[in-house]
Amino acid sequence: MNDLIVSVDGPSGSGKERIAKYISNKYNLYHLDSGLLYRRLTYLILKKKINFNNKNELFFFLNSLTSLSLKKHKTLRKEVISKRTSIIATIPIVREFINNQQKLIVKKILKSKKGCVIDGRDIGSKVFKNAKIKLFIKVKTEIRAKRRHKQLIEQGEKSIYSKIFKDINLRDKNDKNRVVSPLVVPKKAIIIDNSYSFKNTIFQINKAFKKL
Ligand code: CDP
Repeated sequence: MNDLIVSVDGPSGSGKERIAKYISNKYNLYHLDSGLLYRRLTYLILKKKINFNNKNELFFFLNSLTSLSLKKHKTLRKEVISKRTSIIATIPIVREFINNQQKLIVKKILKSKKGCVIDGRDIGSKVFKNAKIKLFIKVKTEIRAKRRHKQLIEQGEKSIYSKIFKDINLRDKNDKNRVVSPLVVPKKAIIIDNSYSFKNTIFQINKAFKKL
């Protein structure tokens, strides 16, 4: 029961992944990106042309899957997948499926690693409520949109800042207002403000880990 679970939650583009990667390297923990699972599932649903509004069809499809690949692919980060993912992630049976996947992955990993750092939206509030350290990442919407815009341009995608800003707001709305596992600040979470330099963020993280 000494497993170290660290949850890193926050809105779209708040830099959870970079923060989780930093923690993973520094504290030798396995990093699980839960958003990647939601993105991979969305990609499969679209590829197989599953009508996700039809509960039966979706249910049978989810049952036909044994596990989801954790392989990263740039297609999974495209805006079209991002937008669809935030819609598909509101469906209760989808969340149940992904939550089970996460628990299975973590259980397996903990056989060989001392702990895991998991980033997402509902990790500290729902999936791993007993996480030893819970972080919630906060960044102003304008800064998130600017960073996302820059990232898309670097990836060679077309990007219009005002559209990205609108999309981020829409995704925030989907994540915060959904009935099941909305994006909330988990109880006992430490708020990390990632609006400034990464050095500043690291300082806040290391302070949070002092309580270990
Ligand atoms: O990289 P970004 O923060 O934009 O998104 P992500 O973490 O890769 O997650 C993609 C989408 O999956 C989000 O917009 C959420 O709607 C959904 N998601 C979720 O609902 N719950 C999680 N634990 C992780 C992701």
